[in-house]
Amino acid sequence: MTTLDIPELALVALVGVSGSGKSTFAARHFAPSQVLASDAFRAMVADDENDQSASADAFGALHHVAGVRLRRGRLTVVDATNLQPHARAGLVAVAREHDVLPVAIVLDVPEALAWERTEARTDRTHGRQVLARMQRDLRRSSGQLAREGFRRVHVLRGVEEIDAARIRLEK
Ligand code: GTP
Ligand code: MG
Repeated sequence: MTTLDIPELALVALVGVSGSGKSTFAARHFAPSQVLASDAFRAMVADDENDQSASADAFGALHHVAGVRLRRGRLTVVDATNLQPHARAGLVAVAREHDVLPVAIVLDVPEALAWERTEARTDRTHGRQVLARMQRDLRRSSGQLAREGFRRVHVLRGVEEIDAARIRLEK
């Protein structure tokens, strides 16, 4: 079993390609109200969770709510791919503004598995190339996270490690 130690008050960024299991992981380990999902914010601002043109507004709203929660002392988990340095920089900035530790949990599954899962889904329509690009972004990201300001970086490699992980909140 892998135990992920997380401060009781943290901004937790999940990092992983589409189909890596971020939303599944978030639902398993955190309360629904603790999880801010980019999909949900796209739906909130555009009535369509896949509307990429709504991303800027959706992330603006997500950052705002994350900031409000952190100000109120609430653990906050960001369920988005978080594969781009600029996306992660936004989260580190929100955490710092509120004197809260930014933590990253990376879900690293084989690309073939993520694709298999994507093909089985009806809520995702992106192609193989998009997934391949995400996987490249993930490769580039690993090793950068600590440098970007994430104070703890937990990397879970493969389905077994992801399945066996538990979260321990530090008082
Ligand atoms: P995006 O929201 O597209 O970025 O994907 P995601 O990383 O949130 O993946 P999600 O949790 O939605 O999982 C994608 C698919 O894989 C879903 O159909 C899940 O049911 C399945 N899945 C996720 N985690 C697991 C797992 O641990 N075991 C199995 N068997 N299926 C999983
Ligand atoms: Mg998801």
